[in-house]
Amino acid sequence: MADVKKIAVIAGDGIGPEVVAEAIKAMKKTEEVFGYGFEFEHGLFGGIAIDEKGTPLPEDTLAMCKRSDAVLLGAVGGPKWDNNSKELRPETGLLGIRKALGLFSNIRPANVFDCLKEASTLKPEVLEGTDLIVVRELTGGIYFGEKFRREGENGQEAVDTCVYNVNEIERIVRQAFEIARTRSKRLASVDKANVLETSRLWRETVIRIATDYPDVELEHVLVDNCAMQLLRRPASFDVIVTENMFGDILSDEAAMLTGSIGMLSSASLGEGAFGLYEPVHGSAPDIAGQGIANPIATILSVALMFRLTFGYHDAAEAIERAVKEVLDAGHRTGDIAVDKSKAIGTTAMGDLIVNAIRK
Ligand code: NAI
Ligand code: MG
Repeated sequence: MADVKKIAVIAGDGIGPEVVAEAIKAMKKTEEVFGYGFEFEHGLFGGIAIDEKGTPLPEDTLAMCKRSDAVLLGAVGGPKWDNNSKELRPETGLLGIRKALGLFSNIRPANVFDCLKEASTLKPEVLEGTDLIVVRELTGGIYFGEKFRREGENGQEAVDTCVYNVNEIERIVRQAFEIARTRSKRLASVDKANVLETSRLWRETVIRIATDYPDVELEHVLVDNCAMQLLRRPASFDVIVTENMFGDILSDEAAMLTGSIGMLSSASLGEGAFGLYEPVHGSAPDIAGQGIANPIATILSVALMFRLTFGYHDAAEAIERAVKEVLDAGHRTGDIAVDKSKAIGTTAMGDLIVNAIRK
């Protein structure tokens, strides 16, 4: 048996616990099938932690994450806490945990399942073969630069500053090259180097680091052009790396290629193999407690964990194959069903996928 990996589980609020339960079932199945070993430890986080401990990110939950090899997160938030003060809001816990764990990149795959092409707003022939990953820088750029107001000659002015240092750029660009190496070895670096000084530094850094990765084919794409090409030729992209704000926008655009938010997985990474894995969607308070949430985004987040943190490529592929097999057989949760009357629930979908995981 491989060494036992410690998984910190923070199920969170709303549908979080429902979808996380199915992902854990999938992990346990890979223990049986591939001989991997996992030890699960559960912690409070988000709204439920506010209710029980008076803070969205309790110390013991953070300590649990720090001694783990990877974190599996459901979702946090809900109307109950929306009007709380900032330090008592679930989202503050999300920002806090990313910072405390040194996570500086957010990784979102967008791959189109052939049998779900009808769920997208794009033409099936444009989507054919789309399988890309957006790597977004999380800690720098205009979201974190100095911001202030002042009186100008023509009334009030607002200033946001965009700052990047070369180390912040280098660490995420290296990570993106490494990920490209494990895939089809193509990297698109997205910037606005014709206008922005931070983008010029970004591009210089990418060009310098590229000499260490001669096996990866590199293209530079201006962000406005990238926004167009994602709709015109999505299948031609493999790994896209970009700064914080461009990545925020482009990753949401890429997400919509695939149709449903219930299918989208994500990872947040720092230095080394450690990562936090979660579905892109939120706590879906409108359907929480009904047993109808789609667990696929969370199950695919486990596949991402296997690939990026543990290098368990066989088990990652087995999970992705199982999801495809179940979808190809026509099984659908409500969010991806054309005929809603035939939709199945969270546990039924989880069971079908778990049963389809094999070598
Ligand atoms: P949401 O993603 O929770 O829901 C948007 C819509 O998609 C809803 O109609 C929901 O029912 C549906 N949906 C989402 N996931 C689904 C799934 N797995 N299966 C089937 N349908 C699904 O986004 P919304 O409504 O904007 O936010 C709800 C709460 O979640 C808020 O408190 C928000 O702050 C929080 N949130 C948390 C995130 C996180 O934990 N990382 C991310 C996004 C939102
Ligand atoms: Mg966004």
